[in-house]
Amino acid sequence: MASILITAGPTREYLDDVRFLSNASSGRMGCALARAALDAGHAVTLVVGPVEVEPPVGASVMPVVSALQMQAAAESVFENADIAIAAAAVSDWRPAERAAGKPPRAPGPTTLVLVPNPDIVAGLAAKKGRRVVVGFALESTSAGMPRAIARGREKLRKKDLDAVVVNLHDTIGSGDGEFVLCTRDGPDEALPRLGKEQAAARVVALATELWNKGRTS
Ligand code: C5P
Repeated sequence: MASILITAGPTREYLDDVRFLSNASSGRMGCALARAALDAGHAVTLVVGPVEVEPPVGASVMPVVSALQMQAAAESVFENADIAIAAAAVSDWRPAERAAGKPPRAPGPTTLVLVPNPDIVAGLAAKKGRRVVVGFALESTSAGMPRAIARGREKLRKKDLDAVVVNLHDTIGSGDGEFVLCTRDGPDEALPRLGKEQAAARVVALATELWNKGRTS
């Protein structure tokens, strides 16, 4: 049995007390991963942004709102985890400043200063030791799967991940999708078009295989 950290859902980056930047992530993939990991007998902590879907019973759930909160929660859980699977759609930027209350609308255009958010999964991978870190790479559909795989492999290398799950951006909010699993040394594993539940089970199995291999090497 492994202890598995999963990040899921979008983050919200508040401009003021009412308005925020976010994205269309439903959290379904992360919750499916949590369910698959529980079904396989693992202990699961789900660090999850604001989502509608119910996390599975049995997972330890840490709700967060912003990327900085998600980073702090993920880093504390990672200390005692064996495997991290990052399925969250972290907002790339946050407003440089957060205003109090709800500032009234002013006439004419306005400028919002954004600063980059930290790359949470890359931060975990940088101190992973024998732990296994798996990321997702959601790529634009128009570029096609071969291009998506090339970009996913680039992320695998740059973020120092053990595996990356490449999928096309029409997967967002949908019940199924096309997934390709890429590892450092192995060949690409293209899954047939699958529901997120079945794809999640394969991702958990792969992460566990990599973790077991690391323990016995
Ligand atoms: O770079 P990109 O956003 O495509 O990378 C996707 C992978 O990195 C996902 O696993 C996602 O959860 C993770 N990520 C992260 N923190 C960020 C951006 C992405 O953990 N700020």
